[in-house]
Amino acid sequence: MSKKFAKNILCIGAGYVGGPTMAMIAAKCPQYKVTVVDINREKIKAWETDKLPIYEPGLLDVVKIARGRNLFFSTEIEAGIRESDIIFVSVNTPTKTFGEGAGKSADLQYWEKTARDILKTAESDKIIVEKSTLPVRTASAMERILNSNDKGITFDVVSNPEFLAEGTAVIDLEYPDRVLIGSRETERGRRARQEIVDIFANWVPSDKIITSNIWSSELSKLVSNAFLAQRVSSINSISALCEKTEADVQEVARAVGFDTRIGGKFLQASVGFGGSCFKKDILNLVYISESFGLNEVAEYWENVVRINEYQEKRFVKKIIQTLFNTIANKRIALFGFAFKANTGDTRESPAIYITKQLLEEHAHVVITDPKALDNARIDLTGAEGTLEYEDDPYKAAKDAHAVAVLTEWDLYRTLDYNRIFESMEKPAFIFDGRNILNHKKLYDIGFNVYPIGKPELTRI
Ligand SMILES: NC(=O)c1ccc[n+]([C@@H]2O[C@H](COP(=O)([O-])OP(=O)(O)OC[C@H]3O[C@@H](n4cnc5c(N)ncnc54)[C@H](O)[C@@H]3O)[C@@H](O)[C@H]2O)c1
Repeated sequence: MSKKFAKNILCIGAGYVGGPTMAMIAAKCPQYKVTVVDINREKIKAWETDKLPIYEPGLLDVVKIARGRNLFFSTEIEAGIRESDIIFVSVNTPTKTFGEGAGKSADLQYWEKTARDILKTAESDKIIVEKSTLPVRTASAMERILNSNDKGITFDVVSNPEFLAEGTAVIDLEYPDRVLIGSRETERGRRARQEIVDIFANWVPSDKIITSNIWSSELSKLVSNAFLAQRVSSINSISALCEKTEADVQEVARAVGFDTRIGGKFLQASVGFGGSCFKKDILNLVYISESFGLNEVAEYWENVVRINEYQEKRFVKKIIQTLFNTIANKRIALFGFAFKANTGDTRESPAIYITKQLLEEHAHVVITDPKALDNARIDLTGAEGTLEYEDDPYKAAKDAHAVAVLTEWDLYRTLDYNRIFESMEKPAFIFDGRNILNHKKLYDIGFNVYPIGKPELTRI
């Protein structure tokens, strides 16, 4: 064991959560050795270069502070486990696609595999930290697996869910709203919890580090995501009503959000939420509720996902109807493919569904995005139809019948829309799925403009 460092921290899983979280811990705590391991060799190799495997503003600077000093990336999982005092597990926990609970419950196979790797390899007591988002009561299964060993070693399982948002991960990690750490309310449990508190106390103010029992901690993460997604679905449901009544969803959101009991954040109507977490975590909550026979609770939350699907469908339908009920062979430029701005992540992006639907209608789809084209190509592998990928938004829009903004990249706010209008087929249509453009200005240029939840500005 390395004697140079006060603690040896291991993280299993070098993805969107494991990489940035451990980089921040290492940067803020030079006294700890932090090793991040993964089964994916390519990913580990990329973490060792300046072309990181994920795009996240400011992340490379944080990685560079610590890499090679006290931050290491490796595929040597067993060596990492043996050397560590504390193991964060941040492997993926996607929705199960097979068997019991398919389509709703969390697939814990990656999670359980890490538990078995730890059990097989560990030679001393360790604290295991649940960083992944997990169904409530997973810690109990984890403890049972780990403490079934006959080596005389004990594992303390602690929950420390991650609340970072992609696109703002570095700021979220450096200045978190809160860090939540849950443990068993036993003497051992509280001691283990304190060890994790001590890590974050190196840079997070003590009033932002909250502790709880382990089940509350596990459940709080699912509930946080469910509440956030619920706000998006709530305002999106109202956007549909606004379109029928000439109300303006941004004005409504502003008026509603000024109420301090409600607050203004996350009330931005859009084409829908995406990302790897919201849908899967809500469905997980639905599944857990159903498994306790709480069907009304399950239905309540399931509707948050339904409204999201409705919003995506509505958007496609509007494009088809507006373009005179046929988009066959019409060129449609999609501005943005990532599920949100400032990330290359496309998991569950509304753009995937929208592209597939447009292709079904035989449209000629051109996708542009500053960071997500590689992922878009993977997502759309096997999709049939005329599909192009284009780095340059001006080229994407050339000869297009319509532009649809699907991601709120700043870049799209500042394009030369006169130039875009000149190069497009007429009448030229723009569908602003994120309400980020200056609609009046676009109308004055000559576009027919279709925002979300606001009156259309149209000449036809
Ligand atoms: N992405 C987010 O914004 C976010 C935010 C908060 C919480 N979470 C949660 O964090 C967890 C991880 O999410 P992510 O987005 O980082 O996923 P990810 O897919 O980006 O990363 C997971 C990594 O774990 C690795 N892995 C899987 N099994 C392994 C094993 N047995 N040994 C070693 N490595 C293994 C995979 O190769 C992958 O690189 C999930 O539970 C997710 O719900 C994600």
